[in-house]
Amino acid sequence: MIGRLSAGLSLVAASLMLAAHPAPAEPRSSPAEECAACHGLDGIARSADVPHLAAQNELYLYNQLLAFRSGKRPHKEMRYMARSISLAEAQALSAYFASLPR
Ligand code: HEC
Repeated sequence: MIGRLSAGLSLVAASLMLAAHPAPAEPRSSPAEECAACHGLDGIARSADVPHLAAQNELYLYNQLLAFRSGKRPHKEMRYMARSISLAEAQALSAYFASLPR
């Protein structure tokens, strides 16, 4: 009886697993969208106290992100943002913003 029940349960579990969709590649919102709140998705800041990132040197952007991360360049929001992304994301974001026209 119990054996049958658990066999039935594992069948249900197996069919649920088959029905499940593959996990999305990026569960959280893309990091570029988080940066866009201040820097603009086009790399042009809407606020006067935020620097434009569009067309800036890629290596410069990456180095700034590392500096914010380590605290070498002190800034509360950017320290938090730079720590919330991986090094690979920092690299990709630097390349992305550097590639944008100004
Ligand atoms: C809450 C607003 C805010 C968000 C969100 C934000 N930034 Fe910034 N960012 C700033 C401000 C303000 C500065 C200028 C810091 C300073 O005065 O030293 C800055 C500076 C920078 C710089 C240095 C630019 C330069 O010319 O030296 C880079 C690179 C940068 N941000 C990248 C990012 C990236 C990548 C993200 C997303 C992961 C991001 N920022 C998210 C506000 C923000």
